[in-house]
Amino acid sequence: MYYITTAIDYTNGPPHIGHAYEKVLADVLARWHRMLGEEVYFLTGVDQHGQKVQQTAEKKGISPQQHVDEITKLFIALWERLGLSYDGWAATTDPRHKACVQKILTNLKDQGQLYKKSYKGFYSVRQEQFLTDKERNEEGVFGEEWGEVVELEEENWYFRLADQAAWMKNFIEQSNAFVTPSFRKAELLHAVERAFEGDLCISRPKDRLSWGIELPFDTDFVTYVWFDALINYISFAGYLAEPESGLPDFEKLWPAQCEIIGKDILVPAHGVYWPAMLHAMGFKDEEMPGLLVHGWWNINGEKMSKSIGNVVDPNALVDAFGAEAVRYYLVRDITTGKDANFDADRLVMLYNTELANDLGNLCNRSINMTRRYCDSVLPATDFDDEASQALRAGMATTIKQFSALMNDNMVSDALAVLNNQISACNAYIEQQQPWQLAKDEAQASKLHTVLRHLLECCAQTGYLIKCVLPEASDRILNQLEAGGLMENVTPQTLEWGILPDNHTIGEPAPVFPRILSEEEKEKLAAKAAKGSKK
Ligand code: MSP
Repeated sequence: MYYITTAIDYTNGPPHIGHAYEKVLADVLARWHRMLGEEVYFLTGVDQHGQKVQQTAEKKGISPQQHVDEITKLFIALWERLGLSYDGWAATTDPRHKACVQKILTNLKDQGQLYKKSYKGFYSVRQEQFLTDKERNEEGVFGEEWGEVVELEEENWYFRLADQAAWMKNFIEQSNAFVTPSFRKAELLHAVERAFEGDLCISRPKDRLSWGIELPFDTDFVTYVWFDALINYISFAGYLAEPESGLPDFEKLWPAQCEIIGKDILVPAHGVYWPAMLHAMGFKDEEMPGLLVHGWWNINGEKMSKSIGNVVDPNALVDAFGAEAVRYYLVRDITTGKDANFDADRLVMLYNTELANDLGNLCNRSINMTRRYCDSVLPATDFDDEASQALRAGMATTIKQFSALMNDNMVSDALAVLNNQISACNAYIEQQQPWQLAKDEAQASKLHTVLRHLLECCAQTGYLIKCVLPEASDRILNQLEAGGLMENVTPQTLEWGILPDNHTIGEPAPVFPRILSEEEKEKLAAKAAKGSKK
């Protein structure tokens, strides 16, 4: 079972492209693993508790539940527009999740892993945590990233995080599967040194924060939002669930092979707290999840933020360019693990060149020529030449390289490999000039070979791109009447000869209509107006 999950998004504000990227990446990988024939469970959802939510709801004059319900709807609607194929929805106000969190808390307390103490210190309102001296910057103050910092004294419940230090260090050093890409492992190891100087405060007194999951053994407190949120990966996978809960079978699902998170939440939440919590609950080394840590989308090199006013709304992008253009851009213009700069002009450029001009034109021209020269039927042919052999060999290599990169979560690089093959196909058209071959009866066999090579490549690339662009892939395969022929194909079995002798293809239709600039639209409108006057 391939269990893939994402970070759950805070419901204090609407989704932006950072959220959308992570979920599209997860969707592409989930779809890829389904193509491989694996049983896949894809979980995503929303993180609904915490101080920020309570504060925003107060400002809006509504209850926190009302507020999170409103924002949650925005996430669900966007995921639907973007065609996300998730199997489970994690919302932390779900009673099944609350029950799981409370059972875990009770178990940990019974095992002596939780204790209560009074603590006086500096508290970051933004990060909802107490700060220690190690959080002070070089000037000895708490930096801007902590927001408002106030001095507080209160009693709270603590998790014996420091007890996990020796195990954690050893585990992270030993494991190559826990964190990818590998350069994040070094970063985590470095952080681990400092992360265990104290225990983890896992409660908030209700008089300060009531919007959270109540501690089952001390009802004056709610659970710290991160402790609650991290548990979503197991609670919605069926951990300690009632049989009639409707949740999956935990034994079948766990451990998650791929928990996709942004680089900002590796340390300390996912890289330190999460494995420490799991280990304290009794999970063994081989039962730890695999973290895939992605980079950030920035705007003009700057962080996206409400205060700068540079937050990109994915809905506006879908309105302007369509969901597939947005899906493509979000996984194409970023290398998994690294940061990238969001640029709507590049979105248009990449869509128009790689999809509309290259793949779209290849399919359109190949199908049109086959209609025109062969009545849409692919005759058997025994002609072969070096160029055709090279194209076939290139396609076989493309399948191998594309698969290896996708298995490594390197979606952009996989698409680059696919685009190279598409360019090779377009060069093959120019070189073979089927329109010339069609003029000479004696060249019929060569013409048929050329068209079959082109259509076969359209079918194979159209199939491979399905994980990124499921609808466009269907359009391509339907025009080739190849949907049925692909039914039992997997990337491992995909090989030359999908389209049989005498196969009849369907009607051509543009797969990727070009995105027009305002200038191009105006020109077209002027041309149309002139035409209508004639
Ligand atoms: N609620 C926590 C996660 C809890 S997981 C148990 C959270 N939420 S978030 O809404 O702030 O972020 C959700 C995800 O979006 C995180 O993985 C975060 O890294 C990612 N991104 C937020 N902004 C981003 C970009 N600008 N670019 C790419 N991803 C970014 O953290």
